[in-house]
Amino acid sequence: MIKTMVAALVCLSAVTGFAAEVSLEKDLIPIFMKSCGECHNPESTNRGAIKNKAYFNTKEDILGKVGKHIKAGNPEESGLLKVLDGTAKFGKRDMPMPPPKSELPAFSKEERAKVAAWIKDGAKDN
Ligand code: HEC
Repeated sequence: MIKTMVAALVCLSAVTGFAAEVSLEKDLIPIFMKSCGECHNPESTNRGAIKNKAYFNTKEDILGKVGKHIKAGNPEESGLLKVLDGTAKFGKRDMPMPPPKSELPAFSKEERAKVAAWIKDGAKDN
């Protein structure tokens, strides 16, 4: 079921065929900062979010500490996509990101597809 959903997502990105390559800096960081940055940044007081220094402020942050949740070329196996889909496990819990309680905007289908396309394309430093 999850695999089917992710596969559908990947297909969607293939069908939508983003005209230009997805840029981590120009396309993705602004979306991450809007939905995730409030907790995932070095000044955050949200200790849970920052305990592993999982920040989204810069390319280095994302390719660095967040990088362990990214499998370049393989969006289906990337934890980063799973947190967006709400299927990542934190301990025994599923915790979608952003956590619903935060009332921050979840990624739209198109935003998710951009992340998937960037990962599929090798999670480049671009
Ligand atoms: C309201 C605060 C908050 C927001 C907003 C938020 N997170 Fe989180 N995030 C957390 C907390 C708390 C944890 C730690 C969960 C745990 O370990 O139990 C976490 C953990 C994570 C982790 C695992 C980090 C690690 O290596 O330990 C990832 C990846 C993640 N979040 C991604 C995201 C993404 C992507 C977004 C935006 C779509 C987002 N988060 C938005 C609070 C937040």
